[in-house]
Amino acid sequence: MNGVADYDLTAPRTFQVNSLPAMWSRIRRECPVAWHPHEDTGFWSVSRYDDVVTVYRDTENFTSERGSVLDVLLAGVDPAGGRMLAVTDGAQHRAIRKVMTRFFTPAQLARIAGRILERTRGVVADAVARDTVDFSTDVADRLPIEAICDLMAIPEADRPHLLACNKAALSSDEPDATALDAVSARGEILYYLADLITRRRDDPGDDIVSALTTARVGERPLDDDDLALNCYSLILGGDESTRMSAATGAVAFARHPEQWRRLRAAGAVDPAVEEVLRWSTPSMHFARTATADVEVGGRELRKGDVVALWNTSANFDETQFPDPERFDIDREPNDHVTFGKGKHYCLGALMARLELRCLLEALRGRVESIELVAEPRQVYSNFLFGFSSTPLRLRS
Ligand code: HEM
Repeated sequence: MNGVADYDLTAPRTFQVNSLPAMWSRIRRECPVAWHPHEDTGFWSVSRYDDVVTVYRDTENFTSERGSVLDVLLAGVDPAGGRMLAVTDGAQHRAIRKVMTRFFTPAQLARIAGRILERTRGVVADAVARDTVDFSTDVADRLPIEAICDLMAIPEADRPHLLACNKAALSSDEPDATALDAVSARGEILYYLADLITRRRDDPGDDIVSALTTARVGERPLDDDDLALNCYSLILGGDESTRMSAATGAVAFARHPEQWRRLRAAGAVDPAVEEVLRWSTPSMHFARTATADVEVGGRELRKGDVVALWNTSANFDETQFPDPERFDIDREPNDHVTFGKGKHYCLGALMARLELRCLLEALRGRVESIELVAEPRQVYSNFLFGFSSTPLRLRS
């Protein structure tokens, strides 16, 4: 017995063998804020919506700088802390975020929206032309990496290699993939980015990589390592989670055909995008470290304690989402925590929404019904939720 209500939340297997809604419902009821032992240390597990949001917003008492993912925090301290946006706080965080934010405004995204929709329509048309497809690899894998690479002006020819590395770096399709595989994949991406940064510094364009290389953050420009890390966080954040939510969304519509019929008949796609985001919750958790003794949900946390915020539980908290296990494309309100909350709120949220909107638009224009032809294969991770393989039939 090593975990919260007997569940070991550090083990990817826990998220494969259990019914997740039932597991989280029990945890929220029996031990909503609980100490979870792990080897000779441990962490707090926070599972209710209100507590998760409170900690996300409380930058007085919690920091991201030691790391924001459980595996990293339990192994030590994130070496990117204080340098990469997601694991930087205070003035440095504000300054880096300011440079990047202008590439994610509605006006800026409108510039790439047409390309995203056109590409999505092409990928969907290819998929519909086949009898069955693996939605994960044939559709979802092909879209977000292209959008983020457009933003970074990464040459087309380099993209397949980056995608392969990115998949190996964060999650794994197989339980026997080693930590070394992930580390070497990360090394490959950083090596590629170091080269890209040198090229952009010499010959800047109007892309986000060029903007970072020429920006002054505080009094100084970002050094090469900071630049590579921040570009890397765009690829990581921009690709993986969006791919995951696209495939989980397709599975949701296959399992709830009446919702697909409603989407085809409905006017607006945006509420369905929000429900796909809530339902899929690709980043199952993010984490923080307490910088002071602080109370959360009636429990006393000590300075230095690690805290895991379970988005995947909060998004199904019945106090916030009536009948949470109903996939309902008209759900209103739908204030999910899929993109976090507070100062680290996902920088790419509008872009992810745009990509999902284009996908649902392209699909509903062509596809009458979505059917699962075999069970999807879930990625093996305690951080990411999604499917590495999703065999579907898209009937036009
Ligand atoms: C469905 C897709 C996505 C999901 C579920 C997602 C989820 C999240 C979450 C939960 C956070 C907050 C982390 C924290 O509080 O510690 C975050 C931050 C971030 N995301 Fe996303 N994300 C998605 C898409 C994207 C895209 C498309 C990009 C970029 C193109 C992106 C880039 C980032 C960055 C750079 C941060 C750090 C922001 C900061 O610390 O200020 N994400 N994301």
